Amino acid sequence: MHSSNALPDLSGHRVAVPGGTGAVGEGIVRSYLAAGADVVVPTRTQERAEEFRHVLGDAATDRLHLVVHDYTTFSGAEQLAEEMERRLGGVDDVVAPIGGWWAGKRIWEIDESDWHSAFVGLATAHMAVLRAFLPRLNTRGAYTLIVGESASTPVPGSGLVSMEQAALLMMRQVLGAEVSADTELKEQQRVFALVLGPVRTRLAVSGDPDWVSSDQVGAVAVAASAAPSLSGRVIRLRSQAEVDEALALFHGTQPVGTGAVVAVSTMEPQNGQREDLVKLLSELAPRIRAEPGCLHYSVHRSRGDADGPLLVIQMFASVEAFTRHSSVVAAEIPRISALLAAPPAPPALFEPLFQSSTLTEGIGNGETTLSS
Ligand SMILES: NC(=O)c1ccc[n+]([C@@H]2O[C@H](COP(=O)([O-])OP(=O)(O)OC[C@H]3O[C@@H](n4cnc5c(N)ncnc54)[C@H](OP(=O)(O)O)[C@@H]3O)[C@@H](O)[C@H]2O)c1
Repeated sequence: MHSSNALPDLSGHRVAVPGGTGAVGEGIVRSYLAAGADVVVPTRTQERAEEFRHVLGDAATDRLHLVVHDYTTFSGAEQLAEEMERRLGGVDDVVAPIGGWWAGKRIWEIDESDWHSAFVGLATAHMAVLRAFLPRLNTRGAYTLIVGESASTPVPGSGLVSMEQAALLMMRQVLGAEVSADTELKEQQRVFALVLGPVRTRLAVSGDPDWVSSDQVGAVAVAASAAPSLSGRVIRLRSQAEVDEALALFHGTQPVGTGAVVAVSTMEPQNGQREDLVKLLSELAPRIRAEPGCLHYSVHRSRGDADGPLLVIQMFASVEAFTRHSSVVAAEIPRISALLAAPPAPPALFEPLFQSSTLTEGIGNGETTLSS
């Protein structure tokens, strides 16, 4: 059931959703239509167009522009972007839920045809759409990539999906660096990646209430479009709690004192144990970063004092998320303590003085890093 009540008003926004006919795309298209935007959905076949119009039913208003066009090549995507500019006068946002699931072979069993369809074809489609649309986005427009958690968690038998999705995440990271290095572009584009766990869609019905629905993915994408002051970042949407956190971040609804928590601690390695301590902290990093509500985890050494203490900075979306994290890492404390010169002190906790979104931007632009 889709609720448009909580959606911000995007009347007048022109949004392209290549891949919008798919299972996740449907919720995204519905959300933008419900928010009042003009939505361009290209699809490669007439049959798919007709099926999708039928799926949308009454939601397919005259603001839905369903176009039969191959947008998956460089020239095809370019033509689509030009046509959208010509007909609608510009492009404000793009959401790209292009591609689906692939499984069945281990990496060494993959043949050339699998490689081209599940990796090269999808990567080319994303690249084509991005290079055609990103430079055309209007001021502070949002370009939102949709990827699966398999981008960072290996799924045996579906390596092609994992590899292609990981490439998309890196594409976002590179774009983030390129956009912030270019003052002119910084005024224009924000690049997001929504990282999804299993999604409740018209094709996958689940009784698990924690599954995120395609409408909720759409609601978060809409919220990103409607929050131009928030810079691009990776947003994980693998549970209802993470959807709530993402919406709170975009809507700026986190009151000071109940929003993000920054935890800072120092660790003095025992003589001769520095390397092992760094190794252990870096092994823990992916697990901590994957915890619900973790916005940042990094480890630093002192400038000019390679033997000095290590500084650990963590940021969680809420006190509850930080408390959950503390109980998860409690089991690791003995291993960490064994490498320290003195027992670890509880981290010092800080909360945002300004709105939490500003603080998140200040720390590594929403990315998480381990520097030691
Ligand atoms: N479904 C889930 O539970 C789930 C979970 C986590 C992540 N995701 C991610 O969400 C994105 C969309 O997934 P989905 O489940 O919505 O997929 P889907 O139902 O297969 O839809 C994907 C859409 O992408 C378009 N497309 C363009 N080039 C394609 C190609 N070479 N192969 C296949 N499709 C192509 C198709 O649109 P046209 O044919 O109309 O052009 C299709 O409707 C993917 O990145 C996926 O990894 C999905």
